[in-house]
Amino acid sequence: MKFLFHFGIFYIVSRVAFAQSNYLPIQASKVSKSVDSLYNFLTFTSLIVFAILMGAILFFILKYHRKTEDQKTAYITGSHALEFIWTFVPLVIFLLVFYWGWIVYKGTRYFPEDAITIQVTGFQWAWSMQYPNGKKTSNELTVPIGERVVLNMRSLDVLHSFFVPSFRIKQDVVPGYISKLSFIPTKVGRYHIFCAEYCGTEHSSMTGWVNVVEPYEYEEFLNTDDTEGVPLVQLGEQVYKNLCIVCHSVDGSPNIGPSFQGIYGRTQTLDDGTTVTSDDNYIRNSILDPNGQIVAGYPRDQMPMFQGLLSEDEITQLIEYFKTLK
Ligand code: CUA
Repeated sequence: MKFLFHFGIFYIVSRVAFAQSNYLPIQASKVSKSVDSLYNFLTFTSLIVFAILMGAILFFILKYHRKTEDQKTAYITGSHALEFIWTFVPLVIFLLVFYWGWIVYKGTRYFPEDAITIQVTGFQWAWSMQYPNGKKTSNELTVPIGERVVLNMRSLDVLHSFFVPSFRIKQDVVPGYISKLSFIPTKVGRYHIFCAEYCGTEHSSMTGWVNVVEPYEYEEFLNTDDTEGVPLVQLGEQVYKNLCIVCHSVDGSPNIGPSFQGIYGRTQTLDDGTTVTSDDNYIRNSILDPNGQIVAGYPRDQMPMFQGLLSEDEITQLIEYFKTLK
């Protein structure tokens, strides 16, 4: 018995020591620590529960094994106290883990408008990144240390998943939907990007790198002209002038359709009485299929469907432009 007990202690201590070394990737974003604390808590509570269960099984095997051929099993009626303890204690632990996980998760779902917004497009089988000034890169994401970055992510074909292990963030990238990720890099370096959703034959090579650099290096990076970038906001304004200006004002004045002034993030009342927040996906859907959700007070079947007429890039540009219409 003593040996087993000592072995159990040794095992747990060695796992704790291992945790301090390198069994998880480097922590390179602000949420990494809290994600790891939760993960370690789960691992070590599981280990402790495992040790208690296996220890009890071994103990009972040794203590209560049948000693003679005709030995009868004792008649045991149960114990309410025991039942209560082994139900209540795990329940408390599970609720704690739920609450803890929820808090950590909430930290990754924070998308302030003043964050650096970078567009990420996934397709078979690469990642394309586009920065606010229009600069584009492939499979390389460069971000400044210490600043909140929001990724707006789209897929052009099938389901992908954007995963940066060192940042402890992962998010599905779904065709027909804009999904988001948010992080603050905390360590200068170069970190792996993986696609974490099987997406076809070259899925395993759909990888890339995040470069975390000093803010002045980020500015330098943005302004090197290896690609000719026009700021997204400017491109968006052009799309607006070409297609939307006839029916939508940007100064709040009424027209055939609602004004775009303050459109991004405002609460819209729809003609069925419900309200929606005018976020990326609402705006995208309203461009592609205007009759899906009509703002109260405006007629149906007025606006043409832009499905197939506007590219995802142009929709991105429009949304970035809308953000500037305060
Ligand atoms: Cu993209 Cu797997």
